[in-house]
Amino acid sequence: MSFMTNSQSLLPTTYQLPTHVAIIMDGNGRWAKERGLKRTAGHEEGVKTVRSITTYCAKIGIKYLTLYAFSTENWNRPKLEVEFLMKLLEKYLINELNTYLQNNIRFKVIGNICKFSTKLQSIIKDIEDKTSHCKGLTQILALNYGSQDEITRAVNRALVNEEEITIDTINKYLDTYFAPNVDLVIRTSGEIRISNFLLWQSAYSEYFFTKTLWPDFTEFELDDILSDFTKRERRFGGI
Ligand code: IPE
Ligand code: IPE
Ligand code: MG
Repeated sequence: MSFMTNSQSLLPTTYQLPTHVAIIMDGNGRWAKERGLKRTAGHEEGVKTVRSITTYCAKIGIKYLTLYAFSTENWNRPKLEVEFLMKLLEKYLINELNTYLQNNIRFKVIGNICKFSTKLQSIIKDIEDKTSHCKGLTQILALNYGSQDEITRAVNRALVNEEEITIDTINKYLDTYFAPNVDLVIRTSGEIRISNFLLWQSAYSEYFFTKTLWPDFTEFELDDILSDFTKRERRFGGI
């Protein structure tokens, strides 16, 4: 079932959209392999999906979209692939500023970006600053992100400030302090695991796993998933 034609969602007005959608964008490498291409071609194609899904979410009124782009474990990949991903990220961000501004999208990053080049760090800061006034969708890129690392950093910051460790304190010091908890987590490519993504923030998320590889993921499939989400009964421990 799809609610969308010509990029205009036809979701009924009573449709309860999730406020915060988070996506584990997986399967770029396999997409390339299936076509006899290098893994890097899959990452390039994946960037196009990032753009189309982000602008679609902005259009239909999703408020927060977190995209897992590089994990703390992804440094284990061959050096050349890591270098390619860093360059691709740089290129994507520089190209994307206009799309963000045209679609009223605020750009934010979570993860420990200190390990990135100073050039990449300053591009990230610059785009965060230039889009900070945007009030539509907040697109959050998870970069050198790992949930265990994020929680550890948060607790350490609270300890340094001699604050009692409570749920509120941890929320305040997490990289995601500015965003509500995640309503819906989607993972592409058929893997059924979380891979260190938003463990704290997804305590009560709904999950959706699809076999589609990230470069093949479309607005139509997202609409189907959103439609499925509306049918789930979220009880939050109640009855
Ligand atoms: C996801 O695609 C992108 C990143 C982790 C950067 P993969 O590169 O993991 O693709 P597969 O899982 O090898 O197909
Ligand atoms: C998870 O994908 C990380 C990102 C999508 C950035 P991976 O492809 O790295 O995950 P694993 O290692 O297969 O679990
Ligand atoms: Mg993968």
